[in-house]
Amino acid sequence: MKVFVTGGAGYIGSHTLVQLLAAGHEVCVFDNYCNSSPAALARVRQLTNRDLTAIDGDIRDADALTRALADFAPDAVIHFAGLKAVGESNAMPLAYYQTNVTGTMNLLAAMDAAECRRIVFSSSATVYGEARYLPFDEDHPVAPTNPYGRTKAMAEGVIADWATATPAASAVLLRYFNPVGAHESGRIGEDPQGIPNNLMPFVAQVAVGRRDKLAIFGDDYETRDGTGERDYIHVVDLAAAHLAAIGYAARAEGCQAINVGTGQGITVKELVAAYERACGHPIAYEVAPRRPGDVASSYAATDKAERLLQWRTALDVDAMCASSWRWQSENPDGYPGGAED
Ligand code: NAD
Ligand code: UFG
Repeated sequence: MKVFVTGGAGYIGSHTLVQLLAAGHEVCVFDNYCNSSPAALARVRQLTNRDLTAIDGDIRDADALTRALADFAPDAVIHFAGLKAVGESNAMPLAYYQTNVTGTMNLLAAMDAAECRRIVFSSSATVYGEARYLPFDEDHPVAPTNPYGRTKAMAEGVIADWATATPAASAVLLRYFNPVGAHESGRIGEDPQGIPNNLMPFVAQVAVGRRDKLAIFGDDYETRDGTGERDYIHVVDLAAAHLAAIGYAARAEGCQAINVGTGQGITVKELVAAYERACGHPIAYEVAPRRPGDVASSYAATDKAERLLQWRTALDVDAMCASSWRWQSENPDGYPGGAED
């Protein structure tokens, strides 16, 4: 299949490229590298011994997208490109709406012009907002509590309406839970800019000595040990879900929202203990106040993914931490500054 991948140089995109190329798909990446590096694509080429087309372009540029899709004429699109930091979305909401919503609309219009009818979209469990019950299933009300989540919910709505109006269209909205870990080679991984917002990359940077200690945001939640509980999913399992989703989109019409998680909650303290096993030394931490907006627990109902995609996770928390540690310890400063490696 010819697959057009927006945001393919990013964390989840690069891991998905490895599997797309290994499966024999022809790939065109469209990325402006605002939160990634061409070095990730160079490493994907090395890992797979396969080539891919890379276009340096911005999804806010409708003409550039239209040209790229017309030239490549894809069978399917995987749409990773987007801005993803909750805190930043509070500070600059318009930038989030422009990239995540307008960018998605530009992409759908370019797909129409190129007569491409299949899209897999990176959505987020954050669209559910406060849990009314757990696990979150796909029928849980969508009520995001921050601008980032609202852009994802809005983009989902735009895609669903497009799928309804477009004959033979197929859209899969993948609602990711908490992606972590890295490719087992240690050659590609998550490379956050500045101070990591998320738990796993922060723990990894403490483990490698880039930061002194972790702040655990609250130990008085109603969970097993009082710390927040999340559904961490290995990025390699998540990548596999995208291959399953393009396969599903090729055989089914319409629009489906599908959770992508393990179904199991892991607390902050449990994740830290697993990371200590992986790196072989203690991780320093202190307990700090709760982070505003955080919920006690979040985890996925996974039966819809199993039923429609015939996909489920295979990798456990020890594999997530071991692969993260390999990437972090072999690349303590992430990718080399934008250069081809
Ligand atoms: P990432 O930042 O590593 O990757 C996103 C990619 O999109 C980057 O390569 C970036 O350069 C590119 N990009 C951003 N704006 C662009 C634009 N205007 N034009 C072209 N390219 C642009 O993030 P990721 O973790 O790989 O996430 C991929 C997608 O999954 C995002 O849409 C994100 O919102 C979603 N998601 C991520 C998580 C997570 O925890 N990582 C959770 C749920 C959903
Ligand atoms: N945490 C800490 N210390 C830190 C960072 C996080 O204790 O330095 C705790 C949080 O309080 C929470 C847990 O670790 O209990 C996980 O926090 P993350 O920031 O890693 O993940 P979130 O579940 O808050 O949010 C992430 C993404 C969102 C996405 C959501 C669901 O940041 O964009 O998962 O997919 F929407």
